[in-house]
Formats: sequence, C-alpha cells, structure tokens
Amino acid sequence: MTTATAAKPKALPDAQTVLSVKHWTDQLFSFRVSRPASLRFRSGEFVMIGLLKEDGKPLLRAYSIASPAWDDELEFYSIKVEDGPLTSRLQHIEPGDQIILRPKPVGTLVHDALLPGKRLWFFSTGTGIAPFASLIREPQTYEDYDQVILTHTCRDVADLEYGRQLVEEVKSDEMLRELTEGGVDKLVYYPTTTREQSPKMGRITDLLKSGDLFDDLGIEGMSPDTDRAMVCGSLGLNNDIKEILEGYGLREGANSEPAEYVVEKAFVG
Ligand code: A2P
Repeated sequence: MTTATAAKPKALPDAQTVLSVKHWTDQLFSFRVSRPASLRFRSGEFVMIGLLKEDGKPLLRAYSIASPAWDDELEFYSIKVEDGPLTSRLQHIEPGDQIILRPKPVGTLVHDALLPGKRLWFFSTGTGIAPFASLIREPQTYEDYDQVILTHTCRDVADLEYGRQLVEEVKSDEMLRELTEGGVDKLVYYPTTTREQSPKMGRITDLLKSGDLFDDLGIEGMSPDTDRAMVCGSLGLNNDIKEILEGYGLREGANSEPAEYVVEKAFVG
C-alpha cells in the first residue's frame, strides 16, 4: 500500500476565521471574524485586513474596527467595489473562510485624542460610520459625555440601515444599558440622505451651515468649551467639516496632543 504524502497547506499569516456575513445592499456588507487573543485596541481604531493574492502575497487595506474594544469578535463594515482589488473578492467571503488581520491597531478617532467636554459629535458619511459603530458601543463614550450625537449621511435610505439597526440595538441592549447606567439614552441619531427622499434630506455640512441641524436638535450651536467632534467620511466631507468646526473655534487633536476634534478618512477597500 502506498500512502501519498499530501503537501501541508501553507498556513495563512495572521489568519482569522469569518464567523458571519450580512449583505445590506448590493454595495454594502458587514462581517464578523474571530479576534486574536492577544489583540488589544481602543474603540475607534483601525487595522489592516485582507486576503492572499494569487501570487501568495497579502493584499491588505485599512478597515476601522466596527465592534467595541470589549467584544470577543471583530466586526467590519465595507463597500463592495466591482473592480476593487480587495473588495471585489472580499464581498464573497462566507462563514468558515479565513481572512488576514494584522494585529496592529492605530487611529485618531479615540477618546484619548480629545480633551474633556460635555457633548460629543460623531459626523459620518457612507462606511465612515464604522469607527462610530464601535464608539457608540463603548461605555466610556457615555461616561465622558452628557450627550452623544451620531450623524450619518448617505445617498439612499437603504445605505442607512446598518447604522439605524445598530443604534436601535445599542439603545435596547440590556448589558450596555446596565454597563452605562442608562447612558445609552444620551445617544441621539441624526440620519440624512442626499439623493433619495427621506424624512431628513441634505448634506450634513449644509445642515450645519444653515443651522437646521441645531434647530432640529434644540441646540444653540457649538463651542470649544463644551463640544467635541470626531469626523469620518470622504476627503471632501472631512475638509468641509473641518472648516466648519474651526469656524466654531474647535482645534484638531491627535493622540500626542488632545484637542477638540479629530478626523479620519473613511477607508475604501
Ligand atoms: P452627495 O450625494 O450630495 O454627493 P459617497 O457615496 O459619494 O461616498 O457619499 C456619501 C454621502 O456623503 C453622500 O450622501 C454625499 O452627498 C455625501 N458627501 C460627499 N461629499 C461631501 C462633502 N464634501 N460634504 C458633505 N457631504 C458629502
């Protein structure tokens, strides 16, 4: 009898297992993967994830971790780009598949990069909601602030669904409610669309400039004494919001020098 000595499959470097995948639209999906036991990160940070290319080399992109630091699993929220080198393949992952995850979290959308304040704004467009999906599940968010406002602007109503369901879950999650002593009630959700009809339409930048946003929320405006902000969206959005925030006297902070607001580009896979 002859025994074939099968070549041992090459282990994927930094491999993690896909646990679940949810497709929200034909352009958006979220997925959860196993968390390396040694991985420590601060809610709001990002890591490099990806797949092996045909030539055996890793193809990696920056992805915000959408799950909070206390979660046993890691969640990610992604667009699907038809001819995108990574997302054209990543969108087909299924439970049991493996992805590569480099366990080196970094980022500026973290509580440490902001000085203490009373009201925290999360401004997001598209998949830029991902770091805030982490931060609205982070108890420290509610310990540090009296009010937390999450704005999310997308083209169409269906693009808002991931965030809408998440906010609903956060507000009704018993564990989070207990952990934050009801702090989740401080969370205000402000979704807007720009192309499809919805109850609130318009770019968040326009709603800020016109004062509509403040009128809707019953807030006078922003002040560097009370307001802190985190911004995550397209380059255009980030620059436009920066200008508005600076106009209110808020200054950009960093891990090394905390201030009143921080910005990060929403990464495109
Ligand atoms: P709009 O439809 O007016 O371009 P995208 O899908 O292109 O990433 O955009 C996501 C959302 O962000 C859209 O609703 C888009 O509005 C909005 N957006 C894009 N650029 C800006 C910007 N510079 N300022 C404010 N909102 C923006």
